[in-house]
Formats: sequence, structure tokens, C-alpha cells
Amino acid sequence: MAYYSIQNIPLTDLAKEFGTPLYVYDADKIREKISVLRAAFEGIDLTIKYAAKANTNLSILRLMRENGVDMDVVSPQELELGLIAGYTGSNITFTPSGVHFSEIEYAVSQGAIVNLDNLSVLERFGQTYGSSQPCLIRIKPHVFGGGNEKIMTAHPESKFGISIHQKAEILAIVEQYKINVIGLHQHTGSDIKDGKTFEQAASALFDFAYDFKDLQIIDLGGGFKVPYSPEDPGVNMQEVGQIMSNAFRAFCEKYGRELRLWVEPGKFLVSESGTFLTETNVVKRDPVKTFVGINSGLNHLIRPMMYGSYHYIFNASNQDSSKQEEYRVTGYICETDTFSFDFTGKQNERLLNEVQEGDIIALANAGAYGFTMASHYNSRFLPAEVLVDGGVARVIRKRETLEDILRNQE
Ligand code: LLP
Repeated sequence: MAYYSIQNIPLTDLAKEFGTPLYVYDADKIREKISVLRAAFEGIDLTIKYAAKANTNLSILRLMRENGVDMDVVSPQELELGLIAGYTGSNITFTPSGVHFSEIEYAVSQGAIVNLDNLSVLERFGQTYGSSQPCLIRIKPHVFGGGNEKIMTAHPESKFGISIHQKAEILAIVEQYKINVIGLHQHTGSDIKDGKTFEQAASALFDFAYDFKDLQIIDLGGGFKVPYSPEDPGVNMQEVGQIMSNAFRAFCEKYGRELRLWVEPGKFLVSESGTFLTETNVVKRDPVKTFVGINSGLNHLIRPMMYGSYHYIFNASNQDSSKQEEYRVTGYICETDTFSFDFTGKQNERLLNEVQEGDIIALANAGAYGFTMASHYNSRFLPAEVLVDGGVARVIRKRETLEDILRNQE
């Protein structure tokens, strides 16, 4: 799974030219994933709504737009980034959770379609707009799915969506204010690869949908698992697309009208495009284990410490696999910030080609929820970001300086 170049540019050259820590994205990979997704739903009127929270760099958003991919946003700021990237409001869905109603008003004012996930908000929407604005309603189908409990969003105790058991209340509010419900939505969770889970969630939503007479859209969310580790190939998109397409076709037939299908992938489109390049500050030979200390930490890639996530790690400076060692890969943050988690979600060692201080250590699958979840913890700068497109690497976000940290402070 190790790779030593992106579009023929050696990772070590990228590290040298742009410095580390560095997020590098491969534009071809994103285009490839868009094609794979479209092919999986062939014959269906599909709109891809990229879940922008995975990676909101403007250049990534522009790339999505140029490839006919719409956006799903969760905050006014993501919405504004979309507009700056050239989207019009009508290509953007606002799927917030627990936000102040003024944010919904803002999204409507920008022409975005809102996705409502709370009865009181639905009522307020009805009082404010009557039938004048279209909306989607997010349903919680009471389905368990997702890589770990923190990223499961459709189970009974989840805060997301209006419970599937509250249909009568939803219909009463819709009827009272003549709300223009053009679509129903559900999102099960993240890191799902099992076709059955997608099928179960979709069929719960379809069963629910027949009482809504003016639907144009069914939005089945995102959550398609990416191959984080060599042992786990991730979702079989072709198979899952087929399952979802068949269920959708059957629903449309019974519903009596051809609807449009929306999906909202984040990880699937951008995760594999991203490589996080770091440099080995220290190799620490401890009596118990050997640590590779890199110039980053949970401040830049929090997924391992936050979810026990596995990211494939390799030594980009040494391709000789005849001499390998077990290393615990850790960061420079003043708190435990291990990167090398095993498949069971525990901190562990990784077999890497022998590491010398100064070597470039690469973490794969860093394109989604990497930079967007980065912080200034320990008052360190955010990494720079580079996009490789057409064989050319260019900076799409500069490395920070102290001024960025001082901005807005007294
Ligand atoms: N749609 C909705 C309504 C969502 O809440 C999400 C993700 C997505 C789509 C996209 O899910 P994806 O296709 O990326 O799995 N930070 C976590 C993932 C959190 C996902 C939050 N919602 C991680 O790094 O694993």
C-alpha cells in the first residue's frame, strides 16, 4: 500500500519543496472517485452532494464544482465557502444539527435548500415561510451503522434527525403550514461498508415516505467506508450502488413517480486523495519500545486519538523493505498523541522500513477530516496544503505564521 510519489512527483520532493507537516491532495484521485460513484448508480437520476465538512479547501470545492458535484454544508461558513468557490445557493443543501434558526434563515436567503431535523424547527420553518420555500426533512431511521459509536447517526439515541416514530407529528405540522416538503433525508453514519446497512436504512426511509405526496428527492446520505488499512478494502461501491439503486427504483415505481436520488459522501470522495507528510524529529530507543517522533500530532490529524482510527503509515524516505522495525509513531504534542493505532482501535506499533531521524513519514487516507479537524493546540501552526493536478503541485493553503495565531487577540 506504500506509494512513493503522487502523479510522478516523489513524496520526498514535495516535503522538501513545501516543507512539513504537509497535506497533499491528488486531484486525479478525487475525479476517479467521482466517476466510480456515478458508475455505481448508472441509470439513476443521481446528484452527488459532497459533504464539505470532510475537506473545505476552496480548491477542493472548485474541483468538485467543475466536476458537477453539488455541496452539502453544515454551517453558514461552509455555505459561504461554497459560494466563494463558485457554487450558487441552489446547488447547496444546508443540513444543520441544533443550530439557531437565524442560520436556517441565512441559508434560505442564499437560495440553499434546507434539511430540517427537529419538530420545533419544522414548525418555525412553517410559521416563517409557509409553503413558499422548499425543504427536506431529515429522518432518524433507528438503524445502527458506522465504524464506531462516535460516528453513528441513525440509531435510536442519536441526536440527528426526527425519529421515524414521529411521523404523525411531522405530517400534522406539514399540513398545518402547508410546508413544501420536496425531499426526505437520512444519513446512517460514517465508515459503513455493509450493503445490508445501507439497504436497511433506505428501506426504512422509503416505507416512511409514502405519506408525503409531493416528493421530488430522496437523500440517502453518505458514509461509504474507505480502505483505511490494507486488511480492509472498504466499501464495494459498485455493489452498494446496485443495492441502493434497486431499492430506489422499486420505491419510485410504488410511489408512482420518478424521483431524484441524492447521496452525500465526504470520505469516499476525498479521503484517499490525501497524504499527510511529516518529518521524523527523533527516533527514541526506549528499553520497552522504539518511538518515531514526527513533527505533527493530534493537533493536525486527530482521527487516531479521537476514534482509534487506523491510518496506513510508511517511511517515504526509505523504500528498502529488507530491514524493517516495529515503531510506535507519535507526535510532538504535550499529551499522548499516537498515530499508530491497530485494527482493534488500540495504540500499537507499526512495521516500517528502518527510520532515521529526518526521514519523511507519510500517513495515507488523510484527505477527509484531516485538515478540517486540525487545531492550534500547543499553539502550533496549521499545516500547509498542496494540490497535485496535471503533474503540477501547487500550494492551496499557505503554512501559518505567528501572525495567524495572534490575529484577533489583544
Ligand atoms: N451527510 C451527513 C448529514 C453527515 O453528517 C456526514 C458526516 C456525511 C454526509 C458524510 O459522511 P462520510 O461520507 O464522510 O462518512 N470526523 C469523522 C467523521 C464524521 C462524519 C460526520 N458526518 C471521521 O473522521 O471519521
